[in-house]
Amino acid sequence: MIIGVVGGGAMGAGIAQVAAVNGHVVILADSQPASIARARAGHAKAMAREVEKHRLTRDLADAVLERIAYVDGVQEADLALFANAEIVIEAIVEQLGPKQALLQALENVVSANAILASNTSSLSIAALGGICRQSDRVLGVHFFNPASVMPLVEIVPSIMTSSEVVSRARKLVESWGKTTVIASDTPGFLVNRVARPFYGEALRIREEGIADVPTIDWAMRDIGGFRMGPFELMDFIGHDVNFAVTRSVFEATFGDPRYRPSVAQQRLVEAGWLGRKSGRGFYDHGEGTLSPQPSRDVAAGQVIVDRVLAMLVNEATEAAGLGIASASDIELAMTTGVNYPKGLLAWGDEIGALEILRRLDALHAEYGDDRYRASIWLRRTVATGGRLLEQ
Ligand code: NAI
Repeated sequence: MIIGVVGGGAMGAGIAQVAAVNGHVVILADSQPASIARARAGHAKAMAREVEKHRLTRDLADAVLERIAYVDGVQEADLALFANAEIVIEAIVEQLGPKQALLQALENVVSANAILASNTSSLSIAALGGICRQSDRVLGVHFFNPASVMPLVEIVPSIMTSSEVVSRARKLVESWGKTTVIASDTPGFLVNRVARPFYGEALRIREEGIADVPTIDWAMRDIGGFRMGPFELMDFIGHDVNFAVTRSVFEATFGDPRYRPSVAQQRLVEAGWLGRKSGRGFYDHGEGTLSPQPSRDVAAGQVIVDRVLAMLVNEATEAAGLGIASASDIELAMTTGVNYPKGLLAWGDEIGALEILRRLDALHAEYGDDRYRASIWLRRTVATGGRLLEQ
């Protein structure tokens, strides 16, 4: 089976690697020669590491590299090279116009039953499929970064995607050893939506002067049990990317205050303080710089964790209530996509739905901001005495 990947940046290169490691012939195309050169070098390095760690023999590693055909300088006219691909996954720049143009051009060359998939993190799949003649074969196949390592892939059908295409894409991605969840074609899909308060509420807590960056990170790590604190994680992801996702979810929900972006984060982006990749974000990543110390006040730390966690559980409850994904997929996605220590619905049940509601109502009353409104499904669960995981 031939797998086509268009866009050889961080994500496209990773997806191509996963497909080739799993025995597929892969065509990886990009308009920029530099991207293809980087992808090729990255694959060679990744395979050398596999050999070094005795996970692959040199022969098998070479075979993986030989299965990838690298094509640079690709223009619309060159797309005929995907004629025999069973699926083409696009991972080009995150802009609607270029993605729509690419899918339309691909549709003219691929076979009638080929699947057209997008790795978009924030664009509507309906907007991508809607401009195609065969809209039923277009869907989102959303990998996480780095694609070769992260186990989760969100499968995102639009309202037009056929169930046959969904199950074929899902089966293929699972045959690559990935865990899949079905997410609805809504802003941020599943993980990027439910995870928003992890960043947004931490930013608010800092902006209000309740605690500083190292203290919030310490509290979320040491008391909350998260692998990384929100500011460390935003510095790692890159503020340009993290801010763009928040803004896109905010705009796509017609300004829902729960997703309101942070001006402080926007200033970092404007200043070019993008995090680790630029050497500076909320932290200074320069060599030899000392990390600022947290206050380690356990009672104050607990208040921070309780607030962020209430917002996260509320978001997961809302996602389940709106049918963005099933409760079990929400749990699976948050533990495998962003490595949360527990599924948020089970975590909410452990704390108690009533306690989560009490925290949110207290915040709502204090701030008078709809950002803190409790999900109707949380209220109903409390009213019926049920469990969030079984709402
Ligand atoms: P990137 O900027 O590293 O790579 C994009 C590549 O597409 C570049 O090499 C560029 O030359 C190429 N390109 C742009 N327009 C093209 C066209 N018309 N034809 C052929 N090649 C073209 O971007 P990245 O991070 O790999 O993201 C790609 C997609 O994956 C985006 O839709 C993004 O939202 C999504 N995504 C990104 C994640 C991340 O953490 N970076 C995570 C999950 C999804």
